[in-house]
Amino acid sequence: MNKRADIQANLEASAFWMPYTANRQFRKTPRMLVRAEGMHYWSDDGRQILDGCAGLWCVNAGHCRPKIVEAVRRQVGEMDFAPTFQMGHPIAFEFADRLARLAPAGFSRVFFTNSGSESADTALKIALAYHRARGEGQRFRLIGRERGYHGVNFGGMAVGGIPANRKVFGPGVAGVDHIKHTHDPSRNAFSKGQPAHGADFADELERLCAFHDPSTIAAVIVEPVSGSAGVLIPPKGYLERLREICTRHGILLIFDEVITGFGRLGAPFGSQRLGVMPDLFTTAKGMTNGTVPMGGVFVKDSVYDAFMQGPDGIELFHGYTYSGHPLACAAGLGTLDTYEEEGLLTRAASLEKHWEGAMHALKGAPHVVDIRNLGLMGAVELEPRPGAPGKRGYEAFVKVFEAGVLIRYTGDTLAFSPPLIVEKAQVDRIFECVRSVLGTVQ
Ligand SMILES: Cc1ncc(COP(=O)(O)O)c(C=O)c1O
Repeated sequence: MNKRADIQANLEASAFWMPYTANRQFRKTPRMLVRAEGMHYWSDDGRQILDGCAGLWCVNAGHCRPKIVEAVRRQVGEMDFAPTFQMGHPIAFEFADRLARLAPAGFSRVFFTNSGSESADTALKIALAYHRARGEGQRFRLIGRERGYHGVNFGGMAVGGIPANRKVFGPGVAGVDHIKHTHDPSRNAFSKGQPAHGADFADELERLCAFHDPSTIAAVIVEPVSGSAGVLIPPKGYLERLREICTRHGILLIFDEVITGFGRLGAPFGSQRLGVMPDLFTTAKGMTNGTVPMGGVFVKDSVYDAFMQGPDGIELFHGYTYSGHPLACAAGLGTLDTYEEEGLLTRAASLEKHWEGAMHALKGAPHVVDIRNLGLMGAVELEPRPGAPGKRGYEAFVKVFEAGVLIRYTGDTLAFSPPLIVEKAQVDRIFECVRSVLGTVQ
């Protein structure tokens, strides 16, 4: 037996403690992917699986794209690693400059991290240090939102708002508060695009400002569209109102664009699609097409400039060994070339109507209580099985996978975000598969 076959035969004994996975359940009924190309994975039993979630919201250009593979291959043979603490290598500067050209006007600096979680914590730290640099060190509070997801490190966990991600990890970071989430199915179920009702949820921030005193608040962090909580689309006018309140009180607004960045909503970044600009925004995932882990925090020029005023010396005591890793930068440059040559950063806009139609055709299918969509992102919410929340979502996910399509599920919500190279016929296949499976789900 070869080594891989041996691992699969002895999965119960394997050392791999899998993340965000029911380990014991998985070992009994594993789902193994062994190869990928374009819109597809292949499973260990030789089945072709249509990728309905871009791996994990990250493979925006599709799998194993030649320019990216070649760029990484070339770089690993030329220079495997070089530090970026008081040292530089050209490819890190080149990639940062390419990214800055893509970013909205006025965001000409990017701080490199290795993941979305690190990007969230980096953004929060930059916000705190920014106020301090400007003589407003009393601004220590960080405001997140219920149902928000900003990764799993302590900062991101603290401002995050998904209870299961927080409850067993103690008190976390001091000075954190949360505004309400915007999910309001009683008024907005089956909305197409941005829901009509709920701009007023932003007034929660005004309430917290009155309660804590706004001069103690450093930053507010939200995802433009909540991904992990089940694709919650911002109501019309909501982000605009958050922006206005932050500006009025001198609070930095951070958008977590780890999912919405790099074309997911039909523009390079979610802020551009939604017409609201933050002061900082976080990215990861699609930045390197998921090929090599990498993230980044983009900052407005005025934020960067505040750090460059003091005496000469290290301006921000923060960074990761692998910030600007040469392989990640090579993957990133190959990714941007692919996005740009194929028009992928705006392709979601041209497919959005078809996507929306295919999704909303599921209205009336068994168990479906809500459908939400924006760009090439969407969710189908199922009614929970009485007394067993999450079980129906999991069953649907497994059956859809067995039928040849990979999707995400979170609780009883099925989430969709295919690579941006998806064809209309593949969009139809994803939702036809979901429809046929829902008829068999208990
Ligand atoms: C909005 C958002 N922020 C942060 C993260 C964390 O990213 P990572 O898993 O790369 O740490 C994610 C991951 O899904 C995310 O969706």
